Amino acid sequence: MTDRRTVLITGTSSGIGLATAVAAATAGWNVVATLRDTGRADALRAAVEAAGVAERVRVARLDVTDPASVAEAVSGAVAAYGRLDAVINNAGVGQLGTVEQIGVEPFRSVMETNFFGVVEVTLAALPHLRASGGRVIAVSSLGGVIGQPFNEAYCAAKFAVEGFLESLAPVAASTGVQVSVVEPGPVASEFVASLGPSVPGLIAAAGPYEAAFKAYSGTTEGLFDQAQSSAEAAASVVDVLTAERPAFRVQTSGLARDLAGIKLADVDGSAVQAFTTPWLS
Ligand SMILES: NC(=O)c1ccc[n+]([C@@H]2O[C@H](COP(=O)([O-])OP(=O)(O)OC[C@H]3O[C@@H](n4cnc5c(N)ncnc54)[C@H](OP(=O)(O)O)[C@@H]3O)[C@@H](O)[C@H]2O)c1
Repeated sequence: MTDRRTVLITGTSSGIGLATAVAAATAGWNVVATLRDTGRADALRAAVEAAGVAERVRVARLDVTDPASVAEAVSGAVAAYGRLDAVINNAGVGQLGTVEQIGVEPFRSVMETNFFGVVEVTLAALPHLRASGGRVIAVSSLGGVIGQPFNEAYCAAKFAVEGFLESLAPVAASTGVQVSVVEPGPVASEFVASLGPSVPGLIAAAGPYEAAFKAYSGTTEGLFDQAQSSAEAAASVVDVLTAERPAFRVQTSGLARDLAGIKLADVDGSAVQAFTTPWLS
């Protein structure tokens, strides 16, 4: 048993997950930094060494699509530290393309990782979080608030995460467990490498949507010019981890807050349509 609080984080090979592992350990937490392939832990190990927090970080295998690995990582964390105070559901993949470009299968696989993965990890952790009065955090996305053109599968999965956790929050709170979603806008990470087919491949499959898809690609390059760093997004995640009473919904930048505000005040949906429709012309 340790006096330090313990957090398990999914998807720590790169990006926001890696930066959150470093920031949480720096904030004094024991960190169980999980990866679906522990052979990809070199960047994580180098970063925790450089930050001087390696002794507080334990690397473990967890593939969010493999329930046995989820159960093993969660019970391994409790066995190692005697407690689990938080889980951060960070692992996720992107998926570009409208349904007629990509078909149904990518929808299933994105849901499997980005949504059912969150359900699995949360389910495995809840009994331990109840014992510690802990918290569930998910790295959602602005795409969990605003449906974005050519991101149907990704946004559907992030909407599902938000629906799951917004519904769970009062239930979990009735037993002393807090639930929050963190919503980044664009973040400079390895994420674009997980977006599925290449842009030229998607253009070739775009059919009647070719002009709209090309316009969309130009628009989002502009948005990514304003991307924050993974460390900046991770700082917001760790704020939620350490705050006495974190809000349910937290954006990681002023840009993300402004854009989420369009939707959250948009009772009939017209403001979001007015925001996204010009992306296509
Ligand atoms: N980058 C953005 O603009 C942005 C914006 C809003 C929200 N987000 C969200 O932020 C989170 C982190 O993304 P990121 O930007 O840091 O991208 P990233 O650098 O690509 O990190 C994604 C992480 O998820 C892991 N992962 C993927 N599938 C997994 C699985 N089945 N089991 C366990 N881990 C898995 C990846 O591991 P591998 O190395 O094994 O692939 C990687 O460690 C995601 O949930 C993403 O949706 C990102």
